[in-house]
Amino acid sequence: MTYRIAVLVSGSGSNLQALLDAEAAGELGAQVVFVGSDRADAFGVQRGLQRNIATAFVPLRQPRNPAVRAAWEGQLAAVVGAFSPDLVVLAGFMRVLSAAFLAHFPNQVINQHPALLPPDGGDTVRTSSGLTIPALRGAHVVPDALARGLPVTGCTIHRVTPTIDDGPILAQAEVPILPEDSVESLHERIKLEERRLLVAVVQRLAGGAGGARS
Ligand code: GRF
Repeated sequence: MTYRIAVLVSGSGSNLQALLDAEAAGELGAQVVFVGSDRADAFGVQRGLQRNIATAFVPLRQPRNPAVRAAWEGQLAAVVGAFSPDLVVLAGFMRVLSAAFLAHFPNQVINQHPALLPPDGGDTVRTSSGLTIPALRGAHVVPDALARGLPVTGCTIHRVTPTIDDGPILAQAEVPILPEDSVESLHERIKLEERRLLVAVVQRLAGGAGGARS
């Protein structure tokens, strides 16, 4: 049986592309069956369409209205659920999903975060060289890492729980910050690691669910 992945994107979708490329090369052990987005202009949507993958734009029109937000989550859960995914990958999906959404896909949602997160939900991270650095959470962690003058940052892939930027860690990589780094150059180096880790995590989860699949 095929290990089925739904991928949610809000932006360029280069991480989605890494999954699609690994799948096309026969290396993923999984199939991307659905791409969803809260943004019509997300290039990730085009990447899905180009591969002939079912794709949906599900707009959140009033993000601060709890009733609208709950209805949107219900719509998103319904359309994702219609594709019976084994795994839901938040690949640069810039909306927080509540416990109500997650309840539809228990222990099946993973997220990538462009910074190091601690295993214990704490406020600091210990790096491989023994440094203690702040755990960066939220949507601006790449500029935050630069603004704080950190020597190192990284990326984390974790299971999603109702607590933001938390949940069991599946993979992590450190990325040194160079003196000449801009937000763009640093984020691009982080994304290189994110793509590599994401493919490896999906391979592992798909493999664990039953080995090589056809
Ligand atoms: C990644 O850095 C991810 O961690 C963050 O958004 C970025 C998505 O990049 N949440 P892309 O859209 O896959 O190129």
